[in-house]
Amino acid sequence: MIALSNDHAGLTLKGDMAALLEEMGLPWKDLGVNSPESVDYPILGRRAAEGVASGEYERGILLCGTGVGMALSANKVRGIRCVVCSDCYTAKLSRLHNDANILALGARVVGPDLARMIARIWLETPFEGGRHARRVEMIMNIERDSSRAAGPG
Ligand code: RB5
Repeated sequence: MIALSNDHAGLTLKGDMAALLEEMGLPWKDLGVNSPESVDYPILGRRAAEGVASGEYERGILLCGTGVGMALSANKVRGIRCVVCSDCYTAKLSRLHNDANILALGARVVGPDLARMIARIWLETPFEGGRHARRVEMIMNIERDSSRAAGPG
């Protein structure tokens, strides 16, 4: 199951992403807003990311104006590797090498056709593993160690 979420700025792309997921036969759930009224993307990014981190969703696609706010929010959730992509090469490599589990797209940056291409590649590309698994583990250890260093607060 793919978590699909968006803020008001990402709403324009949601139909395209939903159609793509349907075409690809991937089950998905809409966790975003369906109104153009301004909302706070950190709430939406966090909710979807927590769903991915808990295993409720395999992966996620987050849509906002630039993709950046959603990605920053999602990456604060333990276990999340969210990438903003506006090109196909980065989308492919973020799966092959980084095992990204959430894709963030900027609806004000990429047009619908490019967004669909990026998302399709990202969804179809597996993680390569091997030496990349060690590096991904190192990334996740930064998360573990920095929360230890921060202490209970
Ligand atoms: C909303 O105006 C915009 O700030 C948001 O969609 C996103 O681009 C933030 O990073």
